Amino acid sequence: MYNLLKGKRGIIFGALDENSIAWKTAERAHEEGATFVLTNAPIAMRMGQIDKLAEKTNSEVIPADATSIEDLENLVEKATEILGGKLDFVLHSIGMSVNVRKKVPYTESNYDFTAKGWDVSAVSFHKVMSVLYKKDAMNEWGSIVALTYMAAQRVFPDYNDMADNKAYLESIARSFGYYFGSDKKVRVNTISQSPTPTTAGQGVKGFDGFIAYAEKMSPLGNATAQECADYTISLFSDLTKKVTLQNLFHDGGFSNMGVSQSVMEYFIKE
Ligand code: NAI
Repeated sequence: MYNLLKGKRGIIFGALDENSIAWKTAERAHEEGATFVLTNAPIAMRMGQIDKLAEKTNSEVIPADATSIEDLENLVEKATEILGGKLDFVLHSIGMSVNVRKKVPYTESNYDFTAKGWDVSAVSFHKVMSVLYKKDAMNEWGSIVALTYMAAQRVFPDYNDMADNKAYLESIARSFGYYFGSDKKVRVNTISQSPTPTTAGQGVKGFDGFIAYAEKMSPLGNATAQECADYTISLFSDLTKKVTLQNLFHDGGFSNMGVSQSVMEYFIKE
């Protein structure tokens, strides 16, 4: 451990169970000397195991539905009070599509479901940043990160409307990142992560094929949740102060590949 986050305070959204990317990030942030508040939707608290993580990392848990401004205001007020000052880092690790959950094909989208998924997966990032911004709750040189997937740029049919939600999320990072950068010296980035076996990931139809294909295509193999946590810590640390408005691929090289030898082997006839 390198003490990369010594003395830093933050909020971590989205730790549901020990597979969650946010869970691994909380463990790593704790190891690196940070103090933070954990949060998740009230419903997820009942299903998940967040109390176990809170105990392990000496953190408090404050429930918040990330689509509710009222909940977010309460969260940010309480977090700064509990932690004893403004925040240095925030992780948005939230995603949910009702169309995916209910197995509605993309071409048949139910637009009430589309709107709900968009609010949870994309607009919530705007809401989180808006509350942090208006309350002036971030320290200078703080860092805000959200997680995304490459279906924002390329077609992955079974990713359904989450592809559109991720495109919107990445755009919010740039648009809000401009104001956070110029007004508060806070950086905002998205990490575009490899397919990862978590509750959200495994909800995507054909996930096993998806993850196996990405593994064969990526020169370094898929990035794990643990490796994503490591990368996120680097973005929260003072070693990346001038990185902002970026969508950063953390995918073993997948996003720049055309084809790999091991994928080609499936198609070569003797
Ligand atoms: P996960 O299922 O462990 O985490 C998703 C979290 O979103 C859960 O903790 C859930 O309770 C939370 N959430 C849902 N609705 C919410 C609401 N209204 N308010 C607050 N929280 C809410 O899965 P994972 O994979 O760790 O997901 C984290 C992020 O990583 C998501 O943005 C996901 O899209 C992204 N991602 C995941 C990949 C994967 O293959 N698993 C690949 C690339 C990105």
